[in-house]
Parts: sequence; structure tokens; C-alpha cells
Amino acid sequence: MKSPIISPSLLSANFGYLAKDIEMINRSEADWLHLDIMDGVFVPNISFGFPVLKFVAQLSTKPLDVHLMIVNPEKFINEVKALGAHVMNVHVEACMHLHRVIQEIRLAGLEPAVTINPATPVSMLEDIIQDVYMVLVMGVNPGFGGQKFIGHTVEKVRKVRELIERTGSKALIEVDGGVNQETGALLVAVGADVLVAGHTVFSAEKPEDMIHTLKML
Ligand code: DX5
Ligand code: ZN
Repeated sequence: MKSPIISPSLLSANFGYLAKDIEMINRSEADWLHLDIMDGVFVPNISFGFPVLKFVAQLSTKPLDVHLMIVNPEKFINEVKALGAHVMNVHVEACMHLHRVIQEIRLAGLEPAVTINPATPVSMLEDIIQDVYMVLVMGVNPGFGGQKFIGHTVEKVRKVRELIERTGSKALIEVDGGVNQETGALLVAVGADVLVAGHTVFSAEKPEDMIHTLKML
């Protein structure tokens, strides 16, 4: 079986020494760098914005996996493009006209990904699955790092895999929130292609080794 794409989340890094943590990710076997943007409206927390991300983008040698937990994410397509990002993830729950937003992201030259919260059913993806590069399934309610994994996410990933196979879509499946060695192994077994990990990586005694461990799942 092929190893998962690993996308460490910078949300759990030490914000006082971001360059140090980004350099660790650059050296590691991580494939992407996951960046969580929060607005205090769509989610009950605020993380970092584009003035900070501009410097993160300059330091990172890994493709950027940008996750917007904000209302009206389409307003910021140009800003995400200016970062030179690889993927732009928007939430189904935050987009009034999801199909339009996905087309606009693709037109900007970014890979569009659609994210579903724990209470959003997989059926919401049926009419968009052919148009996206990736589906992001939340394993926790978005807003904070280090939360406990919601068990039924495994079943949801299995359902997304079935939907992809049934429709012939080439979308990747990413899971974000509560990923560790145990939950990661369950998720890979049901078809997850990409694992995001914040707390698990940054709370490890040797974060680079933890990235390697996740890569080997
Ligand atoms: C949660 C964020 C996640 C977060 C994951 O709202 O979208 O990317 O950093 O954190 P962990 O891996 O700590 O659950
Ligand atoms: Zn995220």
C-alpha cells in the first residue's frame, strides 16, 4: 500500500519561533504544510492571517495546503494565490454557491478542495465530487488543535471512498483533526490519502520522527 501524504498543521507550532518549526518541517518527510486560517465567525477562534502567511510561504519549501475556516472564502482567492499555495480548502458550510467558488479557485490556478464538518453528511459532496482535487473530512469540530478524534469520521471516510469509486472521481481524501498513529492507521485503512496532524507532531519529543512514523502508516 502506498504511504499517505503527510501535511503537518502549523497551528500547533510555537508561534514565537515559527521559522524554527517551519525549518523542521522542511527537513522532515512531510509532503505538504497545512495552514489553518480562522476568522472568529465561522469558527470560535482566530489563528493567523495573510501578513503572517506571507512570511510562512517564503520560508516553507513544502507545498502549502491552505484550510480556510472563514465565511465567504471566495473573497480571499487572490491572497491564497499570492502565497503560491498548492491547495485551497473551503468549507461546504461556508459557501452559498459552492460550485462557483470551486470554479473560481481552479481558474486562479489553485487546486480546489471541499471540506465537511463532522455533522455534514457525505451526501453533500455528491454534486461537487467531480470538480474537486480533494475532499477534506474534519475529524473534529474546526477551531482548535489537540481535540479528541470523533470516531464516526472513519465511517465517513469509507463513504467518501465509495462515492469516489462510484463516480469515477479522482479526488484525494484528506482528514484533519485528532489524527495520531492509531486514528491515522484506521483512516488509511479505509482510504484516506492525506493526513493532517498538528498536536501529534508538535507535542512529540522528536517531531521529525513522528512525521516519519505517520508517513509509514
Ligand atoms: C482544526 C484545524 C486543524 C488542526 C488539527 O480546526 O483545522 O488543522 O490544526 O489539529 P490536531 O491535529 O491537533 O487535531
Ligand atoms: Zn485544518
